[in-house]
Amino acid sequence: MKQFVIKPIIYKFETCRDFVAQFHLSDDDLILTNEFIYAPFFGDLDLTCDTIFQEKYGEGEPSDEMVEAIYADIKKEYQRIIAIGGGAVLDIAKVLALKHVSPVLALYDGEKEIIKEKHLILVPTTCGTGSEVTNISILALNSRGTKKGLAADALFADSAVLIPELLARLPFRFFATSSIDALIHAIESTLSPKASEITQLFSYKAIELILNGYLEIRDQGPEARISLLEQFLTASNYAGIAFGNAGCAAVHALSYPLGATYHVPHGEANYAIFTGVMNQYMSIRSDGEIAKLNSFIAEILGCEVSHVYEELETLLNVLLPKKPLNQYGVTEANLMEFTISVRQNQQRLMSNNFVPLDDDAVYNIYRTLF
Ligand SMILES: [Fe+2]
Repeated sequence: MKQFVIKPIIYKFETCRDFVAQFHLSDDDLILTNEFIYAPFFGDLDLTCDTIFQEKYGEGEPSDEMVEAIYADIKKEYQRIIAIGGGAVLDIAKVLALKHVSPVLALYDGEKEIIKEKHLILVPTTCGTGSEVTNISILALNSRGTKKGLAADALFADSAVLIPELLARLPFRFFATSSIDALIHAIESTLSPKASEITQLFSYKAIELILNGYLEIRDQGPEARISLLEQFLTASNYAGIAFGNAGCAAVHALSYPLGATYHVPHGEANYAIFTGVMNQYMSIRSDGEIAKLNSFIAEILGCEVSHVYEELETLLNVLLPKKPLNQYGVTEANLMEFTISVRQNQQRLMSNNFVPLDDDAVYNIYRTLF
């Protein structure tokens, strides 16, 4: 049985200038990024490559329509695509590096062959996505009212580049939502039936790095994160390596209808669902890996294992207050609609659950979080 794969070469640079010099960026390259990242970090580096700013194609989570619009604007044959951004930018670039891009919906429906064509370099600017090391691209399929992941080895980057200074301007709220996403990647992949001793090396280390960082921020205030950016970027990368192999699961699956319907940022939608799923797991099975995980987290938090989720939620609330689903606009009727959407669209993720969750269990999770 296959245990572990990590495809991209991972680089780390102190500065963007070092990265540009080492990778010899030229006019054969296309950079996909956001202007608020490009201007301060790359604006004075005299780059000759063409640049596309993703935010010009719509706000919020990336969608199939956004990819189509960007693809339609690419007129030249580039050798390399360099994506510098959060999960949205990286996931879009993975699709743009393919031979057949359009219609994007057909790709996500498995009706088109997925063939890599361009060299792909991914540079994360948040500490959440982990997308730089995974073979998954997630888009909102607006016509379907949910998000869907495409997983194929052709989506792996050739290089993943970590530059901690790129996180320095990340507002606290985005730091919070992205790092909570990374924590959930690590936790979901730890509990996945596909987890192995190798993936758990990465997932447990990611959990430790993130929670210890949160404790420091809780005690010293939000600005304490600035000296921890490399630690959080590393943790996000480790969590990406872990979930790229072992998979994410119900937290992500249940958060997608919420995120797509009410445009809740990915990390925040995950947090809204997180403890509901963990409590549901515990009500079905409380031994095995989940017991080990709970002890591991309780040890870091210095609390009783029996109170671990309350303590964890108290800590996470320092970064991002948790809200009930109805505060995002979710209605009673949505609870069953979301449940059906999870069954129809998220089997890729639901097959990684710690214990199987049927429709009743999924509905119950939504209900308790409502
Ligand atoms: Fe995620």
